[in-house]
Amino acid sequence: MPAGDSFYIATPIFYVNDVPHIGHAYTEVAADVLARWHRQAGDDTWLLTGTDEHGQKIQRTAVANGVGPKAWADKLVEESWIPLLETIDIRNDDFIRTTDERHETAVARFLQKLHDDGHIYEGEYEGYYCVGCEEYKQPDDLLRAEDGDYAGELVCRIHSRPVEVLKEKNYFFRMSAFQDRLLELYETQRDFVQPESVRNEIVAFVRSGLSDLSISRSSFDWGIKVPWDETHVVYVWFDALLNYISAVGYGVDDEEFARRWPAVQLVGKDIARFHAVIWPAMLMAAGLPVSRRVFGHGWLLVGGEKMSKSKLTGIAPHQITDTFGSDAFRYYFMRAISFGQDGSFSWEDLAARYQAELANGFGNLASRVVAMVTRYFDGVVPAAGETTEAEVRIQETLRTAVRTADRAMDRLAIHEAIAAVWTLVDELNGYITEQEPWAVAKRAAEDPAERERLATILYTAAEGLRALAVLLSPVVPKATEKLWAALGAETGLGALAEQPIRESGDWGRLLAGSRVSALEALFPRIELEAPSAPGGSAA
Ligand code: ME8
Ligand code: MG
Repeated sequence: MPAGDSFYIATPIFYVNDVPHIGHAYTEVAADVLARWHRQAGDDTWLLTGTDEHGQKIQRTAVANGVGPKAWADKLVEESWIPLLETIDIRNDDFIRTTDERHETAVARFLQKLHDDGHIYEGEYEGYYCVGCEEYKQPDDLLRAEDGDYAGELVCRIHSRPVEVLKEKNYFFRMSAFQDRLLELYETQRDFVQPESVRNEIVAFVRSGLSDLSISRSSFDWGIKVPWDETHVVYVWFDALLNYISAVGYGVDDEEFARRWPAVQLVGKDIARFHAVIWPAMLMAAGLPVSRRVFGHGWLLVGGEKMSKSKLTGIAPHQITDTFGSDAFRYYFMRAISFGQDGSFSWEDLAARYQAELANGFGNLASRVVAMVTRYFDGVVPAAGETTEAEVRIQETLRTAVRTADRAMDRLAIHEAIAAVWTLVDELNGYITEQEPWAVAKRAAEDPAERERLATILYTAAEGLRALAVLLSPVVPKATEKLWAALGAETGLGALAEQPIRESGDWGRLLAGSRVSALEALFPRIELEAPSAPGGSAA
């Protein structure tokens, strides 16, 4: 993608019935890494996240806690969901709440338009509803519980809790009318919904026939009122999906809207259907462009099951960051799990990768190079002399890494992008081991040619670190800021955030004469005997 393109990326907006766990943090980090990558590339980037606050699930949670739904939402947003962003170092550009005035007006406007244009009709809904999913259910989605508290009852396959039987007068969206256009969309825009496994499921689902969608509820009142009938509130998913456009000026700021929309949508595969079927149908009905793409990533599993709030298997993000820090959290989940597939989290795996890859691989490389420039060149990055094949190989590794990583990021293959960059970490470590600058330094006292060789080696290593700081800044922003400062790169090159990522493979950007300064361990040793995590292994 050429620099300067618009890149708008959004996470789902999360339910405020409970506090975040690492599954929510996972989506946030993935979106943030992609956003930082594009921002660093000079693209006109916008990262949106937020909270989903209406509906029965939130209302019931609030009631159970003895407060009103808005007071409950305010508390959860302020005490848990906003602080999460800091815990895992998210640089979002906006945070939308479905109780924001801007959102509520946009929903009413959108719905009124669909009503005026004949996409809405009044009917009767009779069927099942899962409050956990906030979803109307077909018999196929349900199970007859064999034992436990709900033995004999029909339960939702996802929540293992009884569904409710609804019989209500509702307003319906003529979603069935969009079946063919949706199938055409999946055909002509192959990457509209990805990965392939999710795409296949969506295509099969739409092929099997689309029904119309009930988009209002009248048996409770925690929601946005249907503009032409105040006895109904808007169905919470219809309300929630609109956040992606209400946050960027839909209906009030055409310029902003045109600048941002359409978005790349990252969601868990659990909610891919809402985003790849209902949402594009809604947009088509309103005459708006559909999302740029919908990516349904995999699940973090605990004991083979999806980690979840309702099943009490959630691990709080701070349990990990308190011990390992936010950079390690970000690196670990982005590197260890192929984006798009499920992954099991384990403390052992996290600790092992922290030590091997971050502390010994990257952190140690940085400290050694800075220390050698300090020791052998009084802290001033030397100019390189003549280069040999070994240096050429480093330069080529870097160029390939940048190209491969950028292409991988375009495909949302975050794990591949990081692996591509890591080839340079490994090459540089191997280079230093082979070149033995400490041995060259001994000979350099008597031999000016060796002195020049030492300069070439250390320039190459420092310049490699310069590139790594830029390339890894979207993933480990804190460590790379420290490295940037220690390299003294700011004086000659400006702030790390200003370094164009797609040009970071151009060799020789770090200026000879830059003054390095002491570098504390980027990934300090962790006493694994005393992790703050209760329960040890969660794998
Ligand atoms: O569904 N592994 O909100 P929600 C990976 N409000 N990701 C996980 C996860 C896990 N075990 N558990 C949760 C909603 N997630 C609606 C969305 S959008 C218009 C409305 C992440 O609080 C993943 O992104 O249940 C999943 O899709 C999302 O949290 C569900 O969050
Ligand atoms: Mg959920």
